[in-house]
Amino acid sequence: MQLNTIRDYDFSGKRVVIRVDFNVPLKDGVVTDDTRIKSALPTINYLLDHGASLVVLTHLGRPKGKKNPEFSLKPVAKKFAEDLGRNVQLADDVIGPEVEAQVKALKPGQVLLLENVRFYAEEEANDPEFAKKLASYGDVYVNDAFGTAHRAHASTEGIAHYLPAYAGFLIEKEVKFMAPLLENPARPFVVIIGGSKVSSKISVLESMLKTADTMIIGGGMAYTFKKVLGFKIGQSIFEPDYVDVAKKFLEDAKKKGVKVILPVDNLCGDSFDEHTPVSLYEGDIPDDKQGMDIGPKTVELIRQALKGAKSVVWNGPMGVFEFDEFAHGTEEVAKMLAESDATTVVGGGDSVAAVNKFHLASKISHVSTGGGASLEFLEGKVLPGIKALEKN
Ligand code: 3PG
Repeated sequence: MQLNTIRDYDFSGKRVVIRVDFNVPLKDGVVTDDTRIKSALPTINYLLDHGASLVVLTHLGRPKGKKNPEFSLKPVAKKFAEDLGRNVQLADDVIGPEVEAQVKALKPGQVLLLENVRFYAEEEANDPEFAKKLASYGDVYVNDAFGTAHRAHASTEGIAHYLPAYAGFLIEKEVKFMAPLLENPARPFVVIIGGSKVSSKISVLESMLKTADTMIIGGGMAYTFKKVLGFKIGQSIFEPDYVDVAKKFLEDAKKKGVKVILPVDNLCGDSFDEHTPVSLYEGDIPDDKQGMDIGPKTVELIRQALKGAKSVVWNGPMGVFEFDEFAHGTEEVAKMLAESDATTVVGGGDSVAAVNKFHLASKISHVSTGGGASLEFLEGKVLPGIKALEKN
C-alpha cells in the first residue's frame, strides 16, 4: 500500500484542511485522555512549520447529525491548544458565512478548529455537496484520522475527491506497523486475540490465520472454543450460533499448520461481579461457575509461545480486566509484550485501555489509536479513509 504522504507536497503558504480523530473521552467537560490529540501533533506541527494554515476537522461522539452542546468541541479545543502550545480558534459551526470568513482570514501558522463535523447528517451520509463545501476551505487535504479511517464519511473520504489528498504521519505510522501483519510479518508471528465474543472477532481470527504461526485465543470468546473441544464451561459466555464457525476455524488452523492455544485453566466467579469469590479450575468449569480470566498455567503457555517471536499483535483482553481479581491474565500479557524483543502491536479499544491501565504503552512498538479502525484493518478490510490517500 503506497500512500501520498505529507512529505510529497510543498505546504508553504497553503491552507490545509486536515481531518483528525479527536474523538476523546470527556468527564465533566474535561478531556480525560488526550492520546489521540497528541498523536496528531507531529503532523500538525510539520504543516505549521512548513508555512501552512490549518482548518481542522474532527467528530466527537455520535450527535446523530444534530447540533448538541453536549458534543461541542469546546473542551477539546482547550486541550488541543494546551498540547500544541499555540492559539487555537474554535469556530461555532462547520459551515456558514461566519465560518467562511474565519477560514479566509487565516494566516500561515494559524489554526482554526471547526465545530463537530457530525453536527451535520451530511457528514456520515458522505454527501458530495457537503464534502465539496469542506474541500472549498483549503488548497489541499491531509488526513491523520486513523481512528475514523473505517468510515466513508464526507470529511474522511468524500473530500478527497475534490482536493489533492495526503496521509499524515499518524496514518503513515499505523499502516507501517499493521500492513506487514497481513502480508509478510517477521516470523515467528504470534497473534493474541481476546474479547468477549466470537461473533465480533471471528473475522479477525480468520484474517490473521493467513499469516500467523501461532494464535492464542483468550477472553470470553475462548469458552465457545473450549466447548467445541468437549470441555464443560459452566456459566461462561457461550455463543451457540458460533459453534460451527469455531469448529471450522480450528479445522482450518490445523490444515494450515497454525498452532492454536486455548486456555487450559481459568479463574472463575460465582457471578459476574467484582467481589465474587474467585476459584481456579483446570479443564472443565463446574456448572455453577463462570470463567472470567485465564489461569496461571495458561499464562505460562503464552509466555512459552512468545519466546523467540519476531512479531506479535494483540487485540482484546484475556479476561474481565476492569475487575482487579480478573485482570491478572491481561496484565501478564501486557507485561510479556512490554518485555518482548519482537515488534509488538496492540490494537483495539480494550487492549489499548489495558496497556494504558498497566502503564506499559511506552514499551510497546506500536499502540494503535484505532478501535474499530484497527480491528477492520486486521480483518483485511479496505479502509475507505486510507484508500482515498493511496497513490493512484
Ligand atoms: C472511534 O472512537 O472508534 C472513532 O473515533 C470512530 O467513532 P465512531 O465509531 O463513532 O465512528
